[in-house]
Amino acid sequence: MAAQEGDLRIDGDRLWESIRVMAKIGPGVRGGNNRQALTDADGAARRLFRRWCEEIGARVFVDTMGNMFALYEGTEPGLDPVMAGSHLDTQPTGGKFDGVLGVLGALEVIRSLKDAGLRTRRPIEIVNWTNEEGTRFAPAMLASGVFAGVYDEAWAKARTDAAGKSFGAELGRIGFLGEEPVGGRKPYAYFELHIEQGPILEEEGVDIGVVTHVQGLTWLQVTLTGRESHTGSTPMAKRRNAGLGAARLTEVVDRIAWRNAPLAVGTVGQMDLYPNSRNIIPGRAVLTIDFRHKDKAVLDGMVAALREEAEAIAQKMGLGLAIEEVGHFDPVHFDEACVGRVRDAAKRLGLSHRDIVSGAGHDACWINRVAPTAMVFCPCVDGLSHNEEEEITKEWAVNGASVLFAAVAETAGLGGARRTDQGLPSIHPPESGERTP
Ligand code: GLV
Ligand code: MN
Ligand code: MN
Repeated sequence: MAAQEGDLRIDGDRLWESIRVMAKIGPGVRGGNNRQALTDADGAARRLFRRWCEEIGARVFVDTMGNMFALYEGTEPGLDPVMAGSHLDTQPTGGKFDGVLGVLGALEVIRSLKDAGLRTRRPIEIVNWTNEEGTRFAPAMLASGVFAGVYDEAWAKARTDAAGKSFGAELGRIGFLGEEPVGGRKPYAYFELHIEQGPILEEEGVDIGVVTHVQGLTWLQVTLTGRESHTGSTPMAKRRNAGLGAARLTEVVDRIAWRNAPLAVGTVGQMDLYPNSRNIIPGRAVLTIDFRHKDKAVLDGMVAALREEAEAIAQKMGLGLAIEEVGHFDPVHFDEACVGRVRDAAKRLGLSHRDIVSGAGHDACWINRVAPTAMVFCPCVDGLSHNEEEEITKEWAVNGASVLFAAVAETAGLGGARRTDQGLPSIHPPESGERTP
């Protein structure tokens, strides 16, 4: 049911239907999505998002990194906006909710305000950040990073995909090289709704995660160089096998993470062997390493250990070694006032909640550097994400979007007439009929 005067709540059916329609763009092969950044599918998703925003009277601005901002004017238009959003790009085998929930949840906030004929004091802007996933163009959160002044724009635009196509050229090709200077729009605050992408909320039966921190991350790209030679006629003692070096390094990554258990994680997610022929000893191996931990000292220690052990392996095996850092952020601590708004919103909507540390990176990590920022998590089935089978219930989506609505409206200043005696916005909890088992 749409929000009404005195009965202000989001429209769960509309939110759920919008997620379903968006998921038709860039379908995967197992029910999820393959809508990687700056592909034709990403372009189509952006055009649909722009149309939906324009239908509710929001003005859409695109910056020179392709970040999209849909402005819903407040009663005092000159004020800095409260921003809310996430990303519409996906992993190559991504789910329907990672990122999408945050963008379409923010759209539902504006749709609900508009239905109720309400404007907040500050403008609200829905944001779609370009290339959050970082699969096609490393690092992740590239365009929000430029927005926050972490990355140089020319450097970001020169990033290339595996086929050698540049970010800048692909942005122009899909028609989303905008004119707004990146970083020119100043958020008063930023809120991001996201699925947890981990198992905690579902296992504990908790409706809402109040995200206080995000664990830090370092991404390395390692190239091992050996010598291509015949698999049949090259004696074992004469080999310089880059593929074997990659396998040994993969073991090392796993061991380092276990040494720092239970909070550390370490993964080799991508490994390319060259020339990749069954009867040629690999002459070159390129692998990606992803280390994460909530404490910077532990994270840095894992990276140092990796460098040391990689040197030893390369030396022993007669391999060349090059290690490039292709992504890093320190652990993030979100703004306490904004986090408090999320916690209060969950409380007054009668939703169970707990504080939580995000295992995944988010655009919010960078925006936190330039504006007070917080995140809202809802559960996902089995904690599964970065998988086409990623699933959430409509109830979880509606709960999360309701908390986003209340936190954003409170921060943007919902008119005095809409406040209860306690000074709270008259935003109502999700309808009980929307709860699913
Ligand atoms: C972003 O999706 C990440 O890898 O955490
Ligand atoms: Mn995401
Ligand atoms: Mn993701």
